[in-house]
Amino acid sequence: KKVIYYQEISSTNDVAKSLDVEEGTVIVADRQTKGRGRLNRKWISPEGGLWLSVVLKPKVAPQDIPKIVFLGAIGVVRTLEELSIPGRIKWPNDVLVNFRKISGILTEKVGEKVILGIGINVNNNTPENGIAVKDVLGKEVSLVHVFKILLENLDELYEIYLKSPGTIVELARELMILNVPVKVLGNGEVVGIAEDIDEDGRLVLRLGNGEIRKIIYGDVSL
Ligand code: BTN
Repeated sequence: KKVIYYQEISSTNDVAKSLDVEEGTVIVADRQTKGRGRLNRKWISPEGGLWLSVVLKPKVAPQDIPKIVFLGAIGVVRTLEELSIPGRIKWPNDVLVNFRKISGILTEKVGEKVILGIGINVNNNTPENGIAVKDVLGKEVSLVHVFKILLENLDELYEIYLKSPGTIVELARELMILNVPVKVLGNGEVVGIAEDIDEDGRLVLRLGNGEIRKIIYGDVSL
């Protein structure tokens, strides 16, 4: 497996998009000067965190492409588990510990490539609503160690995904923060209970009047 390492780079996702590399190639950087999150947000990426992008070329049906974000989130939760940290997924792309964000996933599609970008706060200081591995454990951990476990987990999950994308949704569902009140910003604002995710990975929301609304895209706050 090829790993391309930079000390400093704009964004590993941007480099992954522009390079012509084989499937499975990983771009990783000590720090990013233009780290990006969903919805055009900035992603603060100082040294000490794990910032990487995996180049995938999945031959799957178009409706299975959005499920790749769950593959990343499950991979992060499993990696944290090996460090004895209990993480949960906040739909669609955040991993939280104690309701604070420890990791975010940004997937982007360019041609046949899908870039799976993953950021994990490990030994870095985080913005206020964030938390890092070192904050939870009270000590720093080896970034290389976390990197290796994450890649192993992603390998395993990608194999499952290619055989059965639905299984990935099922696995994500078990790790998802559900049955809590949420506010979803997207096409206007909706408030309800996050009840479930459906087989396509959409968020199933129960509104105050009992109506069920399925959310494809949006920003969820707890
Ligand atoms: C989010 O929470 O909205 C997603 C954050 C994704 C951050 C990672 S860090 C590696 C990769 N490169 C980027 O510029 N973003 C992703």
